[in-house]
Amino acid sequence: MQFQYANYSSPRYKATGKGSLRLLLINQRSDFSFALFSGGLSKPKLVAVSNKVTFANPNAPLYPRLAQGKTWNEMTVTWTSGYGISSAEPFIEWGQKGDVRVRSPAGTLTIDRSSMCGPPARTVGWRDPGFIHTSFLKELWPNTVYTYKLGHKLFNGTYIWSPEYQFKASPYPGQDSVQRVVIFGDMGKDEPDGSNVYNNYQHGALNTTKQLIDDLKNIDIVFHIGDIVYANGYISQWDQFTAQVAPITSKVPYMVASGNHERDWPGSGSFYGTKDSGGECGVMAETMFYVPAENRAKFWYSTDYGMFRFCVADTEHDWREGTEQYEFIERCFASADRRKQPWLIFIAHRVLGYSSASWYGAQGSFEEPMGRESLQKLWQKYKVDIAFYGHVHNYERTCPIYQNICLDKEKHNYKGPFNGTIHVVAGGGGSGLADFTPLNTTWSLFKDHDYGFTKLTAFDHSNLLFEYKKSSDGKVYDSFTINRDYRDILACSVDNCSPTTLAS
Ligand SMILES: [Fe+2]
Repeated sequence: MQFQYANYSSPRYKATGKGSLRLLLINQRSDFSFALFSGGLSKPKLVAVSNKVTFANPNAPLYPRLAQGKTWNEMTVTWTSGYGISSAEPFIEWGQKGDVRVRSPAGTLTIDRSSMCGPPARTVGWRDPGFIHTSFLKELWPNTVYTYKLGHKLFNGTYIWSPEYQFKASPYPGQDSVQRVVIFGDMGKDEPDGSNVYNNYQHGALNTTKQLIDDLKNIDIVFHIGDIVYANGYISQWDQFTAQVAPITSKVPYMVASGNHERDWPGSGSFYGTKDSGGECGVMAETMFYVPAENRAKFWYSTDYGMFRFCVADTEHDWREGTEQYEFIERCFASADRRKQPWLIFIAHRVLGYSSASWYGAQGSFEEPMGRESLQKLWQKYKVDIAFYGHVHNYERTCPIYQNICLDKEKHNYKGPFNGTIHVVAGGGGSGLADFTPLNTTWSLFKDHDYGFTKLTAFDHSNLLFEYKKSSDGKVYDSFTINRDYRDILACSVDNCSPTTLAS
């Protein structure tokens, strides 16, 4: 449901009684009608309702979303349609560009109202999200371009097809080639036609989306690290978001993390008891997007991309020492072979490291309570290069740090042994900006109260470029480089040396 005022594009509407409006309709598996109300928002009175507008095929397969599978040579494709398992078989027809096609079956999931945890998701916000299909394209050749189509074979023998899309398969872990990664959080969606919808406050979302689409040929993989849609229990907004990002998600893997707006609900097992998910309690996120997690309801996972190892945490579940998640995080770090995968990246939604957000500053902690208490020894022991967070809607970068102390005075060109972990807040994807505390710290090197996103470019095993770009113009406003030999990673720093012996 969206609305515009009758004088939105016809300023003389009140005088003439004539006007026109342009509304963007996306296929949400049913018909649309237009209704005219008088009396404004305070005293709405229905004046007229239009005939129905029908899509050529309301059930059509739509909004493809790529994600890395559980192994480096598997790509998953998730999409939405109106075809359940009793009416059609969903599949992907795919193959190397210009080569023979094969078909891979897809699984189908549905979500019903009763799997929502509370209102509005379970009440006024409920809308049938359709059928969600995922297909697993396996044994891909590294770096190879594949084309694919979403298909449904109806039981009467007819085939329904999507347009053709293409993607490039992931590099072999350890492979030396240029690899480009975009990371940001908290994007959400906005109305491209200028309409109003209930509860929209992610006015930076379309700029960020546009910059990514414009630069897509220079992006290999995207991480949207929590607070994905901000549907907050208004389920139809998931269609709106997946439509908005489809030009990106149909072409490069779009890896998501879980945030408070996906997961939190009292009494539902989330670590925080807030109502931020609007009753969705994680069910929408874990179904609409695939992540290579052991259990998709617990959103932590690892994924490899060439010279990168990503360890993605789930801050809406407990991460402290002794928990299942803590064990996972340690295993993820410990199993990275740093000669092959020198670039070790930690990702989480809430700030478990360092942030100058006003509310963290007011607490004096500059982090989520208990955030780094357990984890900092892991970051240090396993020499994690960079930790990324969202949740705070701005941009900030720290020095390489351990236990509140900067271990390197350099600000832009890190060379040789890399001591400490750099913490980056990249939560300016689109949702209303967050203020910084006026308190100054020794560790904060760059702050920006604006919408933006970050990009990592690994040129080879020894050279990494980090960039922060604003969503308004796509230009670089902060950057640094890391230049080192892999043996530098094995070198000792504070508290991170393995024991050695003099015996020979
Ligand atoms: Fe958040």
